Amino acid sequence: MNSLHLKIQDEKSNDLPAHLKRNNIVSLLKEKFDFENSHLRIPSEKGDGILSKCFHYSAPDQAKELGIYPFFREIQEMQGSRVVIDGKTAITVSTNNYLGLTKDPRVIAAGKEALDEFGAGCTGSRFLNGTLSLHKSLEKELSRFLSREDAIVMSTGFQANQGTISCLLGRKDVAFSDRENHASIYEGCAISPGKTIRYRHNDMDHLEYCLKKFSSVAGKLIITDSVFSMSGDIANLPEIVKLAKDYKATILVDEAHGLGVMGEQGKGVTNHYNLEDEIDIYVGTFSKSLGSIGGFVSGKSKVMEFIRHKASSFIFTAALPPASVAGVTQALDIMIREPIHLEQLQNNTSYIKKGFFNLGFQVNNNPIPIVPINIGDEALTLLFNQLLFDDGIFAGVAVSPVVPPHNAMIRTSFTSSHTHEDLDKILVSFDKFGKELGIISQ
Ligand SMILES: Cc1ncc(COP(=O)(O)O)c(C=O)c1O
Repeated sequence: MNSLHLKIQDEKSNDLPAHLKRNNIVSLLKEKFDFENSHLRIPSEKGDGILSKCFHYSAPDQAKELGIYPFFREIQEMQGSRVVIDGKTAITVSTNNYLGLTKDPRVIAAGKEALDEFGAGCTGSRFLNGTLSLHKSLEKELSRFLSREDAIVMSTGFQANQGTISCLLGRKDVAFSDRENHASIYEGCAISPGKTIRYRHNDMDHLEYCLKKFSSVAGKLIITDSVFSMSGDIANLPEIVKLAKDYKATILVDEAHGLGVMGEQGKGVTNHYNLEDEIDIYVGTFSKSLGSIGGFVSGKSKVMEFIRHKASSFIFTAALPPASVAGVTQALDIMIREPIHLEQLQNNTSYIKKGFFNLGFQVNNNPIPIVPINIGDEALTLLFNQLLFDDGIFAGVAVSPVVPPHNAMIRTSFTSSHTHEDLDKILVSFDKFGKELGIISQ
């Protein structure tokens, strides 16, 4: 137990109500770790060069000194819901391996076979020399599965969003992007010559207000995550479709966290709402339910043909390596044929959400396995996370700029591989430290 924790335990000994105890702990932390000042407002000496910000950036060092630094932990082993870090086994609640397919022996065998047959990489871009028969067959499989005319396999989901948006959004066009959309969507918008309007998160009145304001613009693109990666909220796709029809806008949906998690056979939120024909462009990733790396975009053939020849993040980068493509193809096949993984995931999600709710944590009541535990203060969040880690729970944290300042959270996510025993242990830890830090009431 580090000295900070001992000091906190002293705080615990007083019988204050939760919110006062929490305030005391935050003040104690702030004496040593002022996240906002050391991370968001990095001092820079007048006349210093471009690297001065690096030399004055002290947030990571301060957190390390306090023993609450949460990033870049070195994972030595991974198996199911367990990871080994610093020689110690922990239950992970920081994973996107929703269906537990990353270490499925069939996925690994398919990857090994492709590695033997085609080698370690494609040594070039899809555009010129990097397109293998493996890429083409995965594209066909994805198109068939999602009832799309065509699909393009890219090297990451980030690049799929960035490349697609930046090549579609022309100088006179306007994108309407949910404020909680993923960074790759922000970047795609930022590097395009078009204008971007950020509408308030999942706020359909605000989206309509923005669309109305630009109703004379011919090229309008509404962009939304189907499942938001931090809050776990589900986009209001039925209303977005209605507004798109009213204002003649095109829709791009990023199903990174929807694929494998919702809809028939895991086809995503688009399928869940029966809106496959209404969503023009479907972007997805292989780095979550499909357990590997890579991404794709799918839609009408003519649109895909345009993106194939215009998206720089697709053209000017090496193709997804053979082992990954073959592994993803196998994982997709398992996801389609074995509904048990999705059923287990849904079962685990409802079990853990009910558990958190009963302890007094606010969680939303949807079937998404992303469960943020909102704390607010950054330093308190890092401390909570460290105490969980010391107790054998490996969680992720989201602090600014991933979330707005003072909206820090422990971001937990769950997989079909968690057992109810794992989930109970997780709940015991959250209960214990949540109470100790005044985050929930005794
Ligand atoms: C909503 C969303 N879109 C896109 C991506 C990017 O996916 P990838 O890991 O394949 O680059 C992520 C990954 O974090 C995501 O959460």
